Order: sequence, then structure tokens, then C-alpha cells
Amino acid sequence: MQRKTMVIVAVAIALTAFLAWRLLRPMNIFVVSAAFERPIPFTELPTAVDGQSAKACGRCHTAIYNEWTTTLHSRAWTDPYFQTDWKFDGAQQICKNCHIPLQDQQESLVMGFRDKQKWDPILEPNPKFDAALQHEGVTCDVCHLRDGKILGPYARTSAPHAVAKMGNSNQVCIRCHVVQGNRWDTFFRFPPCGTVAEIEAGRGRWPSRSGEVTVKNPASLGCVECHMPAVTRPLVPGGPLRATRRHLWRGGHDPEMVRQGLDAQFTRQAGPGGKGASFVLRLENTGAGHYLPTGTPDRYLSVTLRLLDKNGKVLKEEHGVLRRTVMWRPFIVDLRDTRLAPHEPRTFVLNYSKARYPEAETIEAVVQYHLVDEARRRRIDFQNTAPLDSEIYRKRLPLDGAEGAS
Ligand code: HEC
Ligand code: HEC
Ligand code: HEC
Ligand code: HEC
Ligand code: HEC
Repeated sequence: MQRKTMVIVAVAIALTAFLAWRLLRPMNIFVVSAAFERPIPFTELPTAVDGQSAKACGRCHTAIYNEWTTTLHSRAWTDPYFQTDWKFDGAQQICKNCHIPLQDQQESLVMGFRDKQKWDPILEPNPKFDAALQHEGVTCDVCHLRDGKILGPYARTSAPHAVAKMGNSNQVCIRCHVVQGNRWDTFFRFPPCGTVAEIEAGRGRWPSRSGEVTVKNPASLGCVECHMPAVTRPLVPGGPLRATRRHLWRGGHDPEMVRQGLDAQFTRQAGPGGKGASFVLRLENTGAGHYLPTGTPDRYLSVTLRLLDKNGKVLKEEHGVLRRTVMWRPFIVDLRDTRLAPHEPRTFVLNYSKARYPEAETIEAVVQYHLVDEARRRRIDFQNTAPLDSEIYRKRLPLDGAEGAS
């Protein structure tokens, strides 16, 4: 009898210790894959290119350089939200291999790993560390320089530097825009920042239980087609006209880009037996190959339908949220995903009856995009200077249905 009690107590203690460790341990939310376990090694520069900085390319490719400076790729390190999150998360080395992937953008050289999961690298000082280069984030050489040659889509231009063929240009995006999640304690439907996996899933190729994904045909992803719009122009001032792509990579930080992905219709539908009315907001992801929103699970859309009186006072309000909810501790589990998969429309309804709200005059629908929610912003103490929320859609309708849209 006593022995049995001891066993129960021992098991209870072990279980409590295990759960406490799960709750407190440093969280490695993704699996480090061979694709990004180390920085991109330094290779000699081709002739005509006098440095690793984007400025060395911008000297000739002025238009593309100017576009790149406006992007989050160029701010992938300095981005204040990244910096705050990175420090909050214990300033892990592994984050650098996507946010500042060139070897000389990093203070330390990665000599090997202490742990099997490769989150604990053996580091040595990098004598060639370049602080200015670090500030360039995902810079030109990250995507274009391999083995002393510049990768390009044509590989048959009169370039003064050595050139090699890029292969399919969507392959470039995969390295960073998908992270694997295959581990015993992880139950992801999509890996975190699973943009690539979401597109594959849309084609009926679901990732494994734990979010593992392999891309069979990079050309079919379409990232470059949507995120680098085509434009005919010379590569260098005075050069011949060529079919090029704008280096813009707009996403969640640009409301116009989000609008391009979202079709919203707000309409009145007569209630049953002509009594009252329903106002229906229909949302469809018609312009993004992946989920909307995509990227880090921080992003979400909110929907508000409200009944207003003639002074704009709110009489009744309905809310909806489209987001991916992940339970991080003690186990990583995808709990819910209410984001918009491509071409799967969603409706939100507000019912109105004149008898209940005689003073109501109009009804309004608003859709907003949020980069980070307020609870998380406060938790990591992110002091944002730019707004985190943007309005994507707003429309008012009269209640009587006699007139059209206002
Ligand atoms: C001294 C001027 C100069 C510099 C510096 C320079 N380029 Fe070029 N680059 C050119 C010219 C000229 C072409 C060919 C233009 C043409 O024929 O239309 C070219 C072509 C290219 C192409 C297309 C290659 C192909 O054939 O597919 C890419 C990509 C490219 N450059 C990227 C870069 C990058 C990245 C850097 C910086 C690491 C860089 N260039 C630095 C002048 C330069
Ligand atoms: C070396 C890693 C890397 C590669 C390669 C890469 N990206 Fe990114 N990308 C990032 C990082 C990191 C960010 C986020 C930067 C930040 O906000 O801190 C980002 C952000 C973005 C954004 C979001 C902009 C926004 O408003 O939120 C888009 C869109 C994007 N990338 C598209 C692409 C496409 C398309 C490709 C392929 C041509 C590509 N990326 C290749 C690392 C990469
Ligand atoms: C995130 C990856 C990425 C970064 C960073 C990047 N490029 Fe590109 N670049 C590409 C891809 C992908 C293509 C091929 C587009 C296509 O299919 O035509 C390309 C194409 C080009 C071309 C050929 C013309 C064209 O538009 O196809 C030039 C020149 C070029 N890049 C220069 C630069 C310069 C200069 C920088 C830095 C200021 C830079 N790139 C930064 C991914 C990148
Ligand atoms: C059919 C067009 C289309 C295709 C294909 C597409 N995107 Fe997008 N992407 C969009 C639109 C529209 C948005 C803005 C709405 C949203 O966030 O979903 C967006 C947003 C993004 C964002 C912003 C997320 C953030 O955190 O701000 C990233 C990153 C991104 N796309 C990467 C990719 C990558 C990588 C691929 C290829 C694997 C890809 N996209 C393919 C249209 C597309
Ligand atoms: C495999 C490449 C990769 C690694 C490793 C990586 N990131 Fe990112 N990160 C991205 C890409 C791509 C984006 C942009 C698209 C998106 O929203 O998913 C991004 C976006 C972010 C953003 C959002 C930036 C913004 O402006 O909203 C934060 C914050 C961030 N990463 C933090 C981290 C931290 C902290 C680590 C290390 C624990 C890390 N990342 C490791 C690829 C990576």
C-alpha cells in the first residue's frame, strides 16, 4: 500500500516537473533546417563590384537599388519590431541567418553546434564583421551572389561582372519564407511564417502533421509574380530595355497591397417575410496565393459591423476576427485558424429590426489589418512609432434599402 502511494507521488512529482519545464524552458518554436542553419559564406566579389554593400550594386542599378531601400527586406535587421522581439526572445543567433544572412553581417562565425537541435552554436569572433553591412538586412548579395558570380534571370547580358543563371526565381524566396516544424512536441498545421506551406496546401499538398513541407515545383508558387511586379526598363541607365521585376515586396505593412488581396462586398438582404433586414459583409481572398493574412501568427484581420444613429452613435456592434491562434506552451499546438484561405468566402451578418432600433439611421462595415495585437505589444514592450493597424475597407449603407450605397 505504502509502496503504491510512493509510486503515485513520484509520478506526480515527475509530471509536475515536466510540465513546469515545458512552461518555463526557452522556446525553440521552429526546427533549424540545413537551408539556414549557417550564414551564407563569404565568396570573392566579381570584378566591377567593389564591396558587399547594396550601394556597390546601386552605383549602376540605380532604379532597383532605390526600390530596395523602401522595403522591409532592407530593414530586416533595423526593423524596431524585429529588434524588440529578438531581444525579448533571448537574442538568438539563429534569427540572424534569415534577417542578416551574409557571414560578414554577423559579429560571430558559426563553427559548429553544441546541441542536436542547432539552437546553441559554437561561436568565434568574425574579424571581417561589417556593422554598416549588418544594417542592410536582406541585401542584394543575399539573393544574388554565389561563388563569385551574380545570379540573374537572363545570364546573357553584357554585364561587367560574372553572371550565372538564377534557376526559378521563386526558389530564392523559399529559404526564408518557410520554416519547418517537424518535432515530437509540435502540432502545427502550418509552420510559423508558413507562407510557402499555405500555397502548397492550396494545391492539395498538405504539410505533415507537424508542418513539414517540401516544394516540388517552385515555379508554381508565384511569389515573384505577385510581389515583384513586372516592368520593362533598362537594368542600368542608358542600357537596353529588358523585362525586369520591381524589387518592392509589399505585404502586410502596405494597406494597398492587402486591399489587392481582399474582395469585400457589403450588401443589404431583406429579412424573412419582408420584416427587418440583414446586412451581410462578404470577404474573399481573391488576390493572395496564400492565406490572408499570412506570415507571422501576429498578423490578423478584424471585422466590425455597427448600427449608427444620425449622430454616429453606436447602437449595436458585431465583431469578427480572422487570425491563426497557436498555443505555445506547454506544447506547440495550432488551436484555430480563421484566416481566409484563397477563394473560400466568409460572411459576417448583422440583423436589424426597425422596431428594436427606431433611432438607427445607417449601418457600417469596417475591416482592419493588424500587424501585432495589443496584448503582445505590451508583453514584449514594443514602443511602436508607426501605426500597427490600418483600415482596409469601410462602407456605410442606409437602413431603408431604398437608395444604393453611400
Ligand atoms: C559597374 C556597373 C555595375 C555594377 C557595380 C553592378 N552591375 Fe549588375 N549589371 C551591370 C550591367 C551593365 C548589366 C547588363 C545590363 C544589360 O545588358 O541590360 C548588369 C546585369 C545584372 C544582372 C542581370 C544578369 C543576367 O544576365 O541575368 C543582375 C542580376 C545584376 N546585374 C545584379 C547586380 C548586383 C546584385 C550587383 C551588386 C553585387 C551588381 N549587379 C553590380 C552593371 C553593374
Ligand atoms: C534571406 C531571407 C529572405 C529571402 C531570401 C526572402 N525574404 Fe522576404 N522577408 C525576409 C524577412 C526577414 C522579412 C521580414 C523583415 C522584417 O519585417 O523584419 C521579409 C519580408 C517579406 C515581405 C513582407 C513585407 C511586409 O510588408 O510585411 C514580403 C512580401 C516578402 N518578404 C517577400 C519575399 C519574396 C517574394 C521573396 C523571394 C523573391 C523573398 N521575400 C525572399 C527574409 C527573406
Ligand atoms: C530577396 C531577394 C532579392 C534581393 C534582396 C534583391 N534581388 Fe534582385 N532579383 C531577385 C529575383 C528573384 C530576381 C529575378 C526576377 C525575375 O524573375 O525576373 C531579381 C532580378 C534582379 C535583376 C535583373 C532584372 C530583373 O528585374 O529581373 C537585377 C539587375 C537585380 N535583381 C538587382 C538587384 C539589386 C541591385 C539588389 C539590391 C539593391 C537586389 N537585386 C536585391 C531577388 C532579389
Ligand atoms: C496571387 C498573388 C500572391 C502570391 C502568389 C503570393 N503572394 Fe504573398 N501576398 C499577396 C498579397 C495580396 C498580400 C497581402 C495580403 C496578405 O497579407 O495576405 C501578400 C502578403 C505577403 C506577405 C506579408 C506577410 C506579413 O507578415 O506582412 C508575405 C511575407 C508574402 N506575401 C510572401 C509570399 C511568398 C513567400 C510567396 C510565395 C511562396 C507569396 N507571398 C505568394 C499576394 C501574393
Ligand atoms: C527561416 C528564416 C527565418 C528565421 C530563422 C527567423 N525569421 Fe523572422 N521572419 C522571417 C520572414 C520571412 C519574415 C517575414 C514574413 C513573415 O511575416 O512571416 C519574418 C518576420 C519576423 C518578424 C515580424 C517583423 C515585422 O515587422 O512585423 C519578427 C518579429 C521576426 N521575424 C522575429 C524573428 C525572431 C525573434 C527570430 C529568431 C527566434 C526569427 N525571426 C527567425 C524569416 C525568419
